[in-house]
Amino acid sequence: MLKKIAVLTSGGDAPGMNACIRAVVRAGVSKGIEVFGVMRGYEGLIDGELKSMALRSVSNIITAGGTIIKTSRSERFLTKEGRKKAIENLDKYKIDGLIVIGGNGSFTGAHILQQEWQGMVVGVPGTIDNDLSGTDYTLGADTAVNTALGAMDKIRDTVHSMERIFVVEVMGRQDGFIAIRTGLAGGAEDILVPDNDYRIDDICEDIKKGRKKGKVSWIVVVAEGVASAEEIAKLIHENTDFEVRHVTLGHVQRGGSPTAFDRILGSRFGAAAVEALINGQKDKAIGIESDQIVLTDFTKACQHSPKKMVLDRELYRLTKLLAT
Ligand code: F6P
Repeated sequence: MLKKIAVLTSGGDAPGMNACIRAVVRAGVSKGIEVFGVMRGYEGLIDGELKSMALRSVSNIITAGGTIIKTSRSERFLTKEGRKKAIENLDKYKIDGLIVIGGNGSFTGAHILQQEWQGMVVGVPGTIDNDLSGTDYTLGADTAVNTALGAMDKIRDTVHSMERIFVVEVMGRQDGFIAIRTGLAGGAEDILVPDNDYRIDDICEDIKKGRKKGKVSWIVVVAEGVASAEEIAKLIHENTDFEVRHVTLGHVQRGGSPTAFDRILGSRFGAAAVEALINGQKDKAIGIESDQIVLTDFTKACQHSPKKMVLDRELYRLTKLLAT
C-alpha cells in the first residue's frame, strides 16, 4: 500500500511543470497518499530538502511558468556517493515512490536511482526541447514554440518593412522541434536543425534567386545546436553581400504562463504518474501518444524518436514548399 510519495523537477524548467506538481499533489492526496515536494531537484534530494505538500500548497500555480519546487542540473547525483545520500533521505522520509519531472539527463538519473533504491521511480517528460521517445509531446514544448513564434511575428514586422534578411536563433541543443514548428508557423524561408544537413551555399543561392524574383525579406530560423545566429548571419552576408540582422531568443523561451495545451498535459501527466505508482509501475516514463497516456521504459524514453525525426523532415519540406 502506497503511503508516501515525493515529486521533484530536474534539469531546465519548462512551462507546465507547476500544473503537473499540482496534479501530483491533488491526485495523491485524494487517494490518501502523503505527497512530499523535493526542493531543487536531485540536489535537494541529496541535501534532504523534502517538505510535505498539502492541497492548498498548490493553489494558484496552474497559470505559472517555472517550477515552485525549483530545479537544478545536479553533478553530485552523477556520483555513487551523491545517490547514496539521496537514498538515505528517501528512506528517512519513508518514501515509497518518486516522481521525476524532467528531460533526458533527469530520466537517466532516475533509471540509475531505480537500480539502487527499493522504492518505485516514475518519470514525467518535462522539457521544452521535446526530444524524448515514448511521448508525442513533453511539457513546455508547446508554450516554448508559441513564445518563440510571438517574438518571430514581431521580428517579421521589421524584416518586411526594411526588406532585410534576418536569422533567428531558437533553443534546442540536439533537437529541432522548436525551430521547425516556429519556422513553419511563422512563415520562415529556411530552417536549420541538428539532424538535417544544410549548405550555406544553397541558402545564399535561394536568397539571391528570390531577390531577383522580387522577394524582399527573408527569415532563417536556426536551432542553437547547429550554430549561433551571429555565425549564420555573417556567412549569409559574406556570400550574398545583403544586409543581414540576427537575434538569439534564448531563455525567454523557457518562461511564461503555460498554454492550455501544456496545462492540460501537465494535469494528465501528474495524475497518470500517481496512478502508475499506485499500480506498482516503476523504471518507466509517462507519455502521450495519439492522445492516450502510455508508459515507456526509461532506457527507451531517453533515446531519440525516429517517428519524430520523420515528422520533422516532412514539416521541413512543407516549410520550403510554402516559402517559394
Ligand atoms: O531545458 C532544455 C534547454 O532549454 C535547451 O533547449 C537548452 O540548450 C538548455 O536547456 C539550456 O540550458 P541552461 O539553462 O542550463 O543554460
